[in-house]
Amino acid sequence: MKLLLLGKNGQVGWELQRALGVLGRVTALDFDSTELSADFSQPESLAATVRAVRPDVIVNAAAHTAVDKAESEPALARTLNATAPGVLAREAAALGAWLVHYSTDYVFDGSGHQARDEEAPTGPLSVYGSTKLEGEQAIRASGCKHLILRTSWVYGARGGNFAKTMLRLAAERDTLSVIDDQFGAPTGADLLADITAQALRQLRERPALGGTYHAVAAGETSWHGYARFVIEAARARGQAIKVAPEAVAPVPTSAFPTPARRPLNSRLATHKLRAAFGLHLPPWQQGVERLLAEITSAS
Ligand SMILES: NC(=O)c1ccc[n+]([C@@H]2O[C@H](COP(=O)([O-])OP(=O)(O)OC[C@H]3O[C@@H](n4cnc5c(N)ncnc54)[C@H](OP(=O)(O)O)[C@@H]3O)[C@@H](O)[C@H]2O)c1
Repeated sequence: MKLLLLGKNGQVGWELQRALGVLGRVTALDFDSTELSADFSQPESLAATVRAVRPDVIVNAAAHTAVDKAESEPALARTLNATAPGVLAREAAALGAWLVHYSTDYVFDGSGHQARDEEAPTGPLSVYGSTKLEGEQAIRASGCKHLILRTSWVYGARGGNFAKTMLRLAAERDTLSVIDDQFGAPTGADLLADITAQALRQLRERPALGGTYHAVAAGETSWHGYARFVIEAARARGQAIKVAPEAVAPVPTSAFPTPARRPLNSRLATHKLRAAFGLHLPPWQQGVERLLAEITSAS
C-alpha cells in the first residue's frame, strides 16, 4: 500500500508518521517540503503532488487550526480547511484512492448536554468550524472513498498543548482560573493515529465502512477538570507545583473573551466508530497520564 501523508509535523501528523509505517510505504510531507508541494495555501499544487505519488491512501493531517486567528483571516482558513481538502478529494476520486481527513466538534453549535452522533445537525459558531464543515462537505460531494474522523480537544507530546500550559502556570502562580462550562474529551494524537491505522487496515477488506465517524477518548470533563487532573497527577509525580488544589478556580467561558465563539458542549458519541471497527476507546485520563509521564520525565 502506498500512502501520502500531508501535514506530517502537526500533532496528529507526527503520530501518523509512526502509526502508518506498518501499512506500507509512506511519503510524508509538510507545507515547506521542497520536492513535492504540500502547501495547502496553493491547493492546485496539491493535485500535482497526488498525481506524482499516485498513492492508494491520502491522509490529510494539515489544517488551519488557529481558531481565534481564523476569525481575522477567513479566506486563508477557507483555503486550507475547505478548498485544499476539496482538491485532494477530487484527485483521490480520479485515482480511486482513499482520503482520510480530520474534522472537529466545532462543526456543531455546542448546545445541550448530550453527546452528539454523526447525524446530528451541524451549526458552526466560528470561521474555523464553518470552514472545517465546508471541507467535510467537499469531500463527501467528490464521491471519493473517504474516512472523516471528527475529534476534539487534541493533545500531543510534541508541540504546545493545554496540559503543558497548565503545568507551567501551576509552577509559577498561587492561583489559576480555568473554564468549567465547556465539556469534552481530551484526545491524544497518538490515539487518533492508531485509530486511523486500524481503520485503514479494515477498510481495505470492507470499503463499505467508509464515511464520517466521531473519534474521541472515552469519558468527559471540563477544562477545569482537565487542569485539576493534570496538576494533581504532576504533583503525585513529584513535579514542582505551587498552586494549591483549591486555588484552581472554576470560571465561565465569559471570563475569557476570545475572537472565536467555542461550543460549550463538545461531547461526541463514538458508538458508530466502536461498532464499525471493533475498537475500544480508552478513558481520556489514560492518555493524559502517559502524556504527563513523557513530558515530565523529559523536563
Ligand atoms: N487540535 C485540536 O484540538 C483539534 C480538535 C478537533 C479537530 N482537529 C483537527 O485534527 C487535525 C489535526 O490537528 P492537529 O491538532 O494535529 O493540528 P496542528 O498541530 O495545528 O497541525 C496542523 C498542521 O497543518 C500545518 N499547516 C499549517 N498551514 C499549512 C499550509 N499552508 N500548508 C500545509 N500545512 C499547513 C501546520 O504547520 P505549522 O504548525 O508549521 O503551521 C501543522 O503541521 C486537523 O484537521 C484539525 O482541524 C484538531
